Amino acid sequence: MSPTPPAAESDPRESVRKRVLVVGAGIMGSGIAAQAALSGYPVTLVDVSEEFARRGRENATRALDHAVRKGTLGSNERDAALDRLDIGVGVARADSAQIVVEAAPENLELKRKVFAEIEAHAGADALLTSNTSSLPITAIAERLRDPTRLVGVHFFNPVLQMPLVEIIPGHTTRPDVVERARVFSESLGKTVVQSRDTPGFVTTRAMAVLVNEAAWMLSEGVATKEDIDTAYKLGFHHPMGPFELADLVGIDTTLAILDVLWDGFRDARYRACPLLRTMVSAHLWGRKSGEGFYRYPARETAT
Ligand SMILES: NC(=O)c1ccc[n+]([C@@H]2O[C@H](COP(=O)([O-])OP(=O)(O)OC[C@H]3O[C@@H](n4cnc5c(N)ncnc54)[C@H](O)[C@@H]3O)[C@@H](O)[C@H]2O)c1
Repeated sequence: MSPTPPAAESDPRESVRKRVLVVGAGIMGSGIAAQAALSGYPVTLVDVSEEFARRGRENATRALDHAVRKGTLGSNERDAALDRLDIGVGVARADSAQIVVEAAPENLELKRKVFAEIEAHAGADALLTSNTSSLPITAIAERLRDPTRLVGVHFFNPVLQMPLVEIIPGHTTRPDVVERARVFSESLGKTVVQSRDTPGFVTTRAMAVLVNEAAWMLSEGVATKEDIDTAYKLGFHHPMGPFELADLVGIDTTLAILDVLWDGFRDARYRACPLLRTMVSAHLWGRKSGEGFYRYPARETAT
């Protein structure tokens, strides 16, 4: 199936319908790539190795298959989306992308390095976005030649199912860049909220405290993990309990987020429960490693 042709520049909705480069083919990158391809964008999904990129495409395929099985997506639409999704290694393909979504691990120095490489390849007009869930956008942009072109575009997991995008302008981000990020996010069918560039923004700060408090309760023996999850689900109408959520997000990512919040606020509310640190050392990272608070058979590790 042929890729969607570039749309007329005169239509503001369609003016960003160009090639999307997704950097990092993990949980989020694979979901974002699937979503963008489904929404008509030609997409390149890249990672540090061919094997990781291929695994990312497999996860994107699984997410689309899941939607077909649920009846929310036709198999023709899935096939067309997959035709628009190719893979690669490294960020050199930024030279042919008009929109770049960085979804590399939650580490400031790594993201700065990745964006320096992206900037070396990307055209001056390319929209640069980071899917960071907690790191300051201003700090990620700090070493770019043009820090005004980077904006936070925070997707949620699993991307195909979650209707929200949180947009975070850095202190230096230009208003037209924020507007392009909004148009892009809405073209993916997402509802946008905007947050100031403070550690954890709105959503991650809320999520991290929720999971951390549950981990403290578990460590203190207040209740079993199953009962804590059930209490949140049936008591507060949460679709999943805090431990199920932590396993989905990744225990390593959750801990990294808490450490960013602690560094940013120096407030005891954000002191990570030692249980989370122990789990990360033991490689109990959640669904992605096959075990976190719960165990997952291999076929359930991707969403
Ligand atoms: N997991 C979630 O629920 C969630 C939700 C929203 C946002 N986020 C954010 O999204 C980002 C990615 O998180 P994730 O959970 O997908 O992580 P992940 O560990 O599943 O995936 C990260 C991927 O990036 C790759 N990578 C590492 N260095 C790279 C480089 N230099 N170039 C290209 N790829 C590189 C890794 O090989 C890996 O495949 C993080 O900033 C995280 O905070 C995560």
